[in-house]
Amino acid sequence: MEILVEKDYKNMSKKAAFLIREAIKEKPDLILGLATGSTPIGTYEELIRMHKEEGLDFSKVTTFNLDEYYGLSPEDSQSYRYFMEDTLFKHINIKKENTHVPDGLVKEPNEYGKIYDKMIEEQGGIDIQILGIGRNGHIAFNEPDDELILSTHLTGLTEDTIEANSRFFDSIDKVPTTAITMGLGTIMKAKKIILMANGKNKTEIMGELLKGEKVSTKLPASLLLLHPDVTIIMDEEAAELYKK
Ligand code: PGA
Repeated sequence: MEILVEKDYKNMSKKAAFLIREAIKEKPDLILGLATGSTPIGTYEELIRMHKEEGLDFSKVTTFNLDEYYGLSPEDSQSYRYFMEDTLFKHINIKKENTHVPDGLVKEPNEYGKIYDKMIEEQGGIDIQILGIGRNGHIAFNEPDDELILSTHLTGLTEDTIEANSRFFDSIDKVPTTAITMGLGTIMKAKKIILMANGKNKTEIMGELLKGEKVSTKLPASLLLLHPDVTIIMDEEAAELYKK
């Protein structure tokens, strides 16, 4: 595991974008796993800059997103498909058919999850998976629990996550309470994982995670400690309790 501490959010974002750019240069048909939320926005901005100013080419890149709120259509401005279009896809030369975000409207989400995982496998697997982390230690929408489901599946969101995500909605009761999420098995199959964390509200969970003494389904991100190629990039605030 490589742990990088950058001065601030901007530098953290640049570092992640740099790693993605190098990977695309080496493998133009990169399979990239993407995340939503506040954390990766700076990385996406930097990738857009690299595309516009340096000609970084996304025409052969394929993407798979981690999750989607269940019940929201792709056109809903709160959906993760909408977020991805708005924040990244429409600003770069990626082909729409090469971008995948779980479909929040499917009738059989668990069956659909298996199809989503198969699609990833058929593309040769995810080369780089970008991750944020919830302040409760969740990865995608794999919330702390007694057991974690391996494949892509329908899941309930914890109170803490609903509360954390309510900042994007008009009111807390508008936040969907279920989502389709890649499972920990799907995520752990990625060849490389880049986890980013910034800001004071991630200090505690990063300190806990990077004590590195145990894995627990109560801290889903701790499973990543078993992955052979993880890079963690934090800003100084998130790294405050991290002791080298
Ligand atoms: P955030 O969310 O990037 O908005 O902090 C991360 C997460 O909940 O996984």
